[in-house]
Amino acid sequence: MGSVSVIGFLITAVIATDHAQNVDQGLFTKQMLLYKLNYQVKQMDQELFTRCPGFFTHPDHSSMGIIGRRAAYGDAFLDLEIKLASKTLDDLKKKYLMCLENPSAFRGPTTTKRTTTMKPSTTTYRENGEFGFKVLRAKNITYRNYEFLALEVRIPDDGQSKSVNWCRDYQLLCESLSRRPTGCGERFLSISGYKNCASDYNSDMRIGDVLSCNPSTRVAYAANLAFGDGKGPARSNYNAFGFHSCNSHTCQKSIQKSDTALSYMWGSWKDNGTETIMYTLCR
Ligand SMILES: *[C@@H]1O[C@H](CO)[C@@H](O)[C@H](O)[C@H]1NC(C)=O
Ligand SMILES: *[C@@H]1O[C@H](CO)[C@@H](O)[C@H](O)[C@H]1NC(C)=O
Repeated sequence: MGSVSVIGFLITAVIATDHAQNVDQGLFTKQMLLYKLNYQVKQMDQELFTRCPGFFTHPDHSSMGIIGRRAAYGDAFLDLEIKLASKTLDDLKKKYLMCLENPSAFRGPTTTKRTTTMKPSTTTYRENGEFGFKVLRAKNITYRNYEFLALEVRIPDDGQSKSVNWCRDYQLLCESLSRRPTGCGERFLSISGYKNCASDYNSDMRIGDVLSCNPSTRVAYAANLAFGDGKGPARSNYNAFGFHSCNSHTCQKSIQKSDTALSYMWGSWKDNGTETIMYTLCR
């Protein structure tokens, strides 16, 4: 894309975003608007991915469904979808401008050696790099017939990942211990978003459904077996996480924005969120 067409595209994107605030449009107009927004998000995502892959590892369009299907949910749902699409487009625009200003910073280390789908755990391949988790305690456990390494970790006060995003940080954490991240299980291997956790971040999803999905409650339970005689200190939805659904919008540098991918660390940001000790599992 030349710079003139980029600017033209950005202007179109801005207009579309502004339009989205107006919710008093007919159903058809709304559908068209949503369709346009989703198309632009897709284009922007692709462009950003091409220029600055360091922002994420995989352009994910799984959330952009077919318009007819969405219509079945009705008007209120459409409005919500439009809002979400506008917000996404807005975020992408900001990233794209950052990317244009400083392309070298976001070139990304993993474009040529991306992780392959469903690596067996015997592989010697590992991602390397810094990650935001500091391991406080580690313990091997067997939970519902699967072996896991339970971890107690500390996250940074600012809630920012050390690598490109928290999904990568979780992958790097487990791989630094010769393990793999894990979370939602086999049932979700065919569902876009969920399966990206395996293809992009090496999640071991071949664990039946033992951690359920989202995995927070079971991860907390397993961590408490490992560290607290079954009584504590991990709490569901608060400080216990595993992989849930991974894409460029759910895997971010901010821990709060990554909560759909690493579910859940609400204690780190919700209410008076000051919790910096978290629990997770590796395989
Ligand atoms: C867990 O088990 C593995 C394999 O048996 C072993 O190499 C590792 O040191 C153990 N880790 C801990 C924290 O006990
Ligand atoms: C917020 O956290 C601080 C530090 O843990 C605590 O002293 C304070 O009471 C908390 N406030 C609320 C409203 O929970």
